[in-house]
Amino acid sequence: MDVAAKDRLIALANEARTNAYAPYSVYRVGAAVLCEDGRVFSGCNVENVVYGLSVCAERTAIGNMVSAGGLRLSAVAVVTADGGRPCGACRQVLAEFATGPDVPVYCAAEDGEVFESSVGALLPEPFASGDVRRG
Ligand code: THU
Repeated sequence: MDVAAKDRLIALANEARTNAYAPYSVYRVGAAVLCEDGRVFSGCNVENVVYGLSVCAERTAIGNMVSAGGLRLSAVAVVTADGGRPCGACRQVLAEFATGPDVPVYCAAEDGEVFESSVGALLPEPFASGDVRRG
């Protein structure tokens, strides 16, 4: 992915982060996903007083993509204060919708530092559709 597209994705994730609802953890997260049709969808973390009901920014962004008719994502950006990496649950959900394991994941910090990884590097052995046995 070229630098301008990467920077734009991070900027949109950062913008979504301003809407984070995180009164309990006070850890604000923004995410943006590039859909393979070219559209970008973003999301923030949405917490709840029943802590286990909180939703991560990555899954909010993916929910927005799927709700708008998008299906596959080809790049991901996550912005936090410190460049935090996606949690395990979000890694599995990213694997579900990524076009493949090489999809880049950019984890950006407030100071501008960016850790670059990929869906496959973050979750090398995902539970995949072929693992589901029916009957
Ligand atoms: N969080 C995310 O939004 N994404 C992650 O991948 C890790 C954690 C949120 C959940 C919760 O609102 C806060 O960060 C602290 O865990």
